[in-house]
Amino acid sequence: MNNIKDQFLLNPDITYFNHGSFGACPKPIFDDYQRWQRALEFEPVQFITKKREEALLVSKKIFAQYVGCDHEDFFFIQNPTTAVNQIVKSLNFKSGDEVLTTDLEYGAMDKTFSFYSKKLGFVYRRQHISLPLLSKEQFLEDFWKGYNEKTRAIFLCHCTSATALIFPVKEICEKAKSLGLITIVDGAHIPGHVPLDLKNIQADFYTGTLHKWLLSPKGCTFLYVNENFQDRVEPLIISWGYEAAKPIKTKFLEENEQQGTRDFSAFLTAPAIMRFFEENKMAERQAACRKVILEQYPIFCDLLGAKPICKLSNEFLGQMCSIPIKTKDSLQLKETLYHDHKIEIPIMQQGNDIYMRISFQVYNTMDDIEYLKETVKKLEIMPRATVSA
Ligand SMILES: Cc1ncc(COP(=O)(O)O)c(C=O)c1O
Repeated sequence: MNNIKDQFLLNPDITYFNHGSFGACPKPIFDDYQRWQRALEFEPVQFITKKREEALLVSKKIFAQYVGCDHEDFFFIQNPTTAVNQIVKSLNFKSGDEVLTTDLEYGAMDKTFSFYSKKLGFVYRRQHISLPLLSKEQFLEDFWKGYNEKTRAIFLCHCTSATALIFPVKEICEKAKSLGLITIVDGAHIPGHVPLDLKNIQADFYTGTLHKWLLSPKGCTFLYVNENFQDRVEPLIISWGYEAAKPIKTKFLEENEQQGTRDFSAFLTAPAIMRFFEENKMAERQAACRKVILEQYPIFCDLLGAKPICKLSNEFLGQMCSIPIKTKDSLQLKETLYHDHKIEIPIMQQGNDIYMRISFQVYNTMDDIEYLKETVKKLEIMPRATVSA
């Protein structure tokens, strides 16, 4: 199949292995985004007060079908950190409560929970997950060791950031429900990357981006809330949607979709995204990318004297893999890769461990992979056979 890098706006001089951090938007989707921005500027009043609502509904219905939920059960928001802040602020955990999580979570979420746990006096319990991750059962056993009679909620990501591991969130949510716990999932990396069926996962709260693997313009994330919890979700910004004089939607949507004057253009691009995915046979291309990750992960680990941090299976790996490395200066290593070798790749820290994370997206080629291998061979990256116990 032909490569479609020229459909993206990415700098052609850079070998780009970091789709995971901020995605990358293809030209047709970006054009659609700008078309909405122009439509707004053409008739600001008509657009914001009428046309935007119609376009938002179309976009939401298409997206809802894609992720397996009702279009009234979510709203678009700028990023997952904002979504998680809103959830934690709304749930009013108190002294004596515990929120159970893992020690492999995304830093901004850890900070959010730490902030509120200090402010409100609840315990944010970061349960250690042992690596390598070899089975779902092993994960479940590790995770539930952190449970006790004070646990009120569980929070975890569906796919981790620095370690790029897919977690068995369906099984976690199932058990959490049976224990009467609130379930909050950070699925930032999931839409467009790993099949998602919200009805099947049954989380109470689930957030995920469109601007990473669904290739939307930046600032496009969704926050799904199970209808049983929608009354408890307080809007981060109080605006006209609060006690709306003439509500046209549910209270949940009125309050969260009316937040003062904002640019909704990125939220309106779901139809263009779906068109792009279909026209470019993205499913087929991405299946090939996943195969490359499974094949190349052990090769890169060997090259760097490391061991994979999970079983080589699509159960735990999608289009990313993380190699534990040891380096004198991780910031310097990242700078050298970019400035001297024109490779954009993240070197990330999780706890005491440092990882080089490879994202392999549809615009990457096997030549890119060979170039990365040749480059890392030359650099001062020391063997790191194991991760922290
Ligand atoms: C697990 C996880 N959550 C959330 C995010 C992004 O959140 P934000 O854009 O709000 O920083 C990322 C980004 O890499 C992530 O890996």
